[in-house]
Amino acid sequence: MRIYCTENYEAMSRKAAAVMAAQIIAKPDCILGLATGSTPVGLYQNLIAANKAGDLDFSRVTTVNLDEYAGLDGTHDQSYRYFMNTNLFDHVNIDKSRTNVPGGKTADPEAECARYEALLQKLGPADIQLLGMGRNGHIGFNEPADTFTVPTHVVELTQSTIEANARFFASADEVPRKALTMGVGAIMRARKVLVVVSGADKAQAVKDAFAGPIDPHVPASILQVHPDVVLVGDKAALAGLIEAGVPVCG
Ligand code: GLP
Repeated sequence: MRIYCTENYEAMSRKAAAVMAAQIIAKPDCILGLATGSTPVGLYQNLIAANKAGDLDFSRVTTVNLDEYAGLDGTHDQSYRYFMNTNLFDHVNIDKSRTNVPGGKTADPEAECARYEALLQKLGPADIQLLGMGRNGHIGFNEPADTFTVPTHVVELTQSTIEANARFFASADEVPRKALTMGVGAIMRARKVLVVVSGADKAQAVKDAFAGPIDPHVPASILQVHPDVVLVGDKAALAGLIEAGVPVCG
């Protein structure tokens, strides 16, 4: 595992975008596993700038997103499909038919999870999987639980995640209570995992995930056994890890 510590959010976004861009340049028809949340927004802006400058070509790229809120249509402004369109896909030369996000608006979420898992199996492992982290250590919407769940599944969101994500909705009441998420199986099958973290409110989760035991109550801790993880974080988010004596690169 390689850990890069940056001064601030902007530097984190540039460094992480460089890792992602290197992957696209090395393999133009790569499969990118993508993530939502506020943390990757700056990374996506850097990728858009590189695309507009003619340095990065998305025309052969395929994407698979981690998760989606149950009940939200892709046109809902808090759906993760909408997030991906507005924060990345609408601004680069990607073929939208090659972009995949679980369908939130469905009468049968379990069937949608099965469809998405079959798609992931058919496409094969992501060349790089981008991950943010929840304050409780969740990845995608794999919430703390007694066991790790391997396939794509429906999850009940925890109160802490509902509260953390309420800032994007008019009120906490409007945050969907359930989501569809890639399980740890597809995340761990990815050839490379890129984790981005920013801000002091992630410091405890980062420390628990990477300097504590592997424990499904801290879902990101499973990444300790992935052979190729790059963690890019600003110094506020990495403070706990650094205190614990884990070596980081500048
Ligand atoms: C959501 C997403 C996660 C994301 C997390 C953190 O719960 N499902 O994939 O990592 O939020 O979001 P933020 O980056 O805004 O802190």
